[in-house]
Amino acid sequence: MTEHIQYSSEKDALILLDQRFLPNREDWFECKTTDDICFALVVMVVRGAPAIGVTAAYGCYLAGREVQGMDGDWKVNLEAKLDQIHDARPTAVNLRWAVREMRRIWKEAGDVSLEKLLETWLERAKEIHVGDIEMCELIGKFGGELMDDGDTIMTHCNAGALATAGYGTALGVVRGAIDQGKKVSVIANETRPFLQGARLTAYELHKDGVPVKVACDNACALLMKRGLVDKVVVGADRITANGDAVNKIGTFGVAIIADRFNIPFYVAAPQYTIDTETLSGDDVPIEDRDPREVTHIGDHRIPPEGVEVYNLAFDPTPNDLIAGIITEKGVLYPPYTESIKKLFADYPEG
Ligand code: MRU
Repeated sequence: MTEHIQYSSEKDALILLDQRFLPNREDWFECKTTDDICFALVVMVVRGAPAIGVTAAYGCYLAGREVQGMDGDWKVNLEAKLDQIHDARPTAVNLRWAVREMRRIWKEAGDVSLEKLLETWLERAKEIHVGDIEMCELIGKFGGELMDDGDTIMTHCNAGALATAGYGTALGVVRGAIDQGKKVSVIANETRPFLQGARLTAYELHKDGVPVKVACDNACALLMKRGLVDKVVVGADRITANGDAVNKIGTFGVAIIADRFNIPFYVAAPQYTIDTETLSGDDVPIEDRDPREVTHIGDHRIPPEGVEVYNLAFDPTPNDLIAGIITEKGVLYPPYTESIKKLFADYPEG
């Protein structure tokens, strides 16, 4: 897979593969300002929790660069821009984590010059970027061990290289299994309305030569009933202290159906996707997106003019439907409140 998040030192810009146009066009979107970063996050030029986190980290650096040319107190100006990035999308905890991490560095640096702070921030953004790929590879290793030769793995949305800095979380598990010599194939639920499954998961797996079939979201029950699915592996935007996993809308339904047919349902995500400050999935803010994503296919409106729609972008899957949470530190098993506490006791720094 092409590296879809690239920092260019020549341009001093973040260059993103524009996921709105995949798989038809490989266009690149250049971010130089906070507004560019926030636009890219909101319209989903870049999406997927870890990729959002990496983008936000570079975004903080670019915000600082922008502030250098502004009138007034740089600290006040910079705080306002960090708030803007922090609030670009509400559900993925990785976005908040990245902005908080940059704020922590700033606070620890004390009375630092903006120039010096930017140097440190750029280094840290690069570390987060590279570190994300390493975490995904470990998730792939641990998750791959849970897959069997010949498995067909269903996934929902895109938790692949395009949703991370590379390799992927749920698709990292698929790649890990393949790296371990297992022959596995994937069913990608198409994932209405933004079609992350049909467009992005199919795009990146097909490009890598991994066997993939796209299915309508509403085919899930029949496919499982017919024995065509061995495991489900999905990513997460936020996992709460009790192990509930908030992921793309429709994931909850897939988990309920998998439970009905005794198919193991796994969630793959790095430790920093676990938000121990939020108790349960019901406490997580669910993004309510532009209705046009539901009402329109291209320029064509489907429901009659004047009819309203729901476009809630995520849902929480309760922990009792989850067979295991695959992290870069190993696999967590129920009861999750305890296994998550232990994870944070063993790795307080994340
Ligand atoms: O709205 P999106 O496309 O950002 O939602 C993405 C998902 O729900 C992914 O499954 C999740 O972020 C995990 S990505 C490794």
